[in-house]
Amino acid sequence: MINKICCIGAGYVGGPTMAVIAQKCPEIQVTVVDINETRIARWNDEDVNNIPIYEPGLVDVVRETRGRNLFFSTEVDKAIEEAEMIFISVNTPTKTYGVGKGMAADLKYIELCARQIARVAKTDKIVVEKSTLPVRTARAIKDILDNTGNGVKYQILSNPEFLAEGTAVEDLHAPDRVLIGGDTQTEEGRNAMQALVDVYAHWVPKGQILTTNVWSSELSKLTANAFLAQRVSSINSLSELCEVTEADVDEVAKAIGMDSRIGPKFLKSSVGFGGSCFQKDILNLVYIAKSYGLDEVADYWEQVIIMNDHQKARFASKLISTLYNTVSGKKIAFLGWAFKKDTNDTRESAAIYVADILLSEQAKLSVYDPKVQEHQIYFDLDYLATRSEEENKNGVTVTNDPYESCKDAHAIAVLTEWDEFKDLDWQRIYDNMLKPAFVFDGRRLLDGDQLKNIGFSYHTIGK
Ligand code: NAD
Ligand code: UGA
Repeated sequence: MINKICCIGAGYVGGPTMAVIAQKCPEIQVTVVDINETRIARWNDEDVNNIPIYEPGLVDVVRETRGRNLFFSTEVDKAIEEAEMIFISVNTPTKTYGVGKGMAADLKYIELCARQIARVAKTDKIVVEKSTLPVRTARAIKDILDNTGNGVKYQILSNPEFLAEGTAVEDLHAPDRVLIGGDTQTEEGRNAMQALVDVYAHWVPKGQILTTNVWSSELSKLTANAFLAQRVSSINSLSELCEVTEADVDEVAKAIGMDSRIGPKFLKSSVGFGGSCFQKDILNLVYIAKSYGLDEVADYWEQVIIMNDHQKARFASKLISTLYNTVSGKKIAFLGWAFKKDTNDTRESAAIYVADILLSEQAKLSVYDPKVQEHQIYFDLDYLATRSEEENKNGVTVTNDPYESCKDAHAIAVLTEWDEFKDLDWQRIYDNMLKPAFVFDGRRLLDGDQLKNIGFSYHTIGK
């Protein structure tokens, strides 16, 4: 029986996941710790609406559990010491230096956690990999933990998270499956797995809790993301073919999606997938395959990224060529900056890359996103280091009013599929734009016929 859980990392995964565990297991004390003091302060903000992550329904879960059996803290050592089960939910970004730069996952944060647990723990612990990790990482964690010589016994489990941002709470409440990998060969291993099964069994039907060996579990996470991203790149590749053949990519997606072997989900053509994980995890998969000498496997999956980069660049090129081959000095309104709707997360958002190309062509951008803050937009552009911070400031304005962004614009680019964009007063927007007034819908979100009737020159993907 687990009484105390600690989770290291209070991010997009650690925060919502632990909030739901606390909600569903009121007898378990759950403490989420992080070294980022500002983030923890926001999780503890008196006004629950100020928690650092926007996810529909999350505020309600935090309101119900915070201070009851859910706690946020910067006292990492204390939480580790007290817990019987420790989730590691820290970031695992793509390496930006040294061997594997630009491909391999940077495991320094994971290793730091393992070393901290090894240093602090005085009683036996179950350590759960919640972060997405390269297959065989559990070996490295175990090596670090087992070599402290202080007699503490560890079991390492892999329990990857499959939630998607924007639907995190829904996904956590009713997951398609929960995957738990562990040492199936020993009794201690099986007991540890059972302890975690018992946590999830509070609300997940037993048949949906899958137990495997630890390597299968680690690899399944990378594989799931690779398959999902591959579907998006596959449909996006065909969107380009649709544009030259008068086929309509949404019609093609519907037609193939009704085949139960293919299924209807993840066939929405777009300006390209973003998010913190798809690209990172595929690059990691490619790197792992290469490191085992499996070049064909690596090349196969790398193509998913190549196609996604092409889709983002293609969207920008089409906008430029349609605007008579120059956007220099022209105002382009961006509707949306987040990588998908219902999240304030912008990591790897297609909007960043499209903006970067247009800024290099000297366009003037005016961005509106209902949930993304101004400083984040400048941070994302500065992070690319394509131009100076001052140049980014000069090239981009951020507004909190979509009509203001679109006023006097030459063109509008829809980068995120926020529902509210459908309900804007498009006649009003048209009246206040320069003519011809162009709309480039990177999400196939708007009613193209309605916009054309108003007078817009409407362009979308895959049609
Ligand atoms: P995140 O960057 O939002 O959060 C990670 C947190 O860990 C940060 O707040 C950071 O300060 C903290 N941290 C780093 N090192 C620490 C340390 N030594 N001690 C204490 N805190 C530390 O990342 P995320 O989006 O939550 O992703 C975490 C992991 O989950 C990644 O491996 C990711 O691939 C995986 N994942 C993410 C999602 C998603 O939707 N974001 C979904 C499934 C899996
Ligand atoms: C994705 C997976 O869906 C989760 O299962 C996984 O846990 C998570 O990655 C992770 O490991 O981080 P997420 O990135 O939050 O979740 O969001 P998705 O809904 O998968 O969307 C990813 C990107 O693909 C978005 O930019 C979205 O707009 C795009 N997308 C998605 C499309 O362009 N078309 C689609 O049909 C679906």
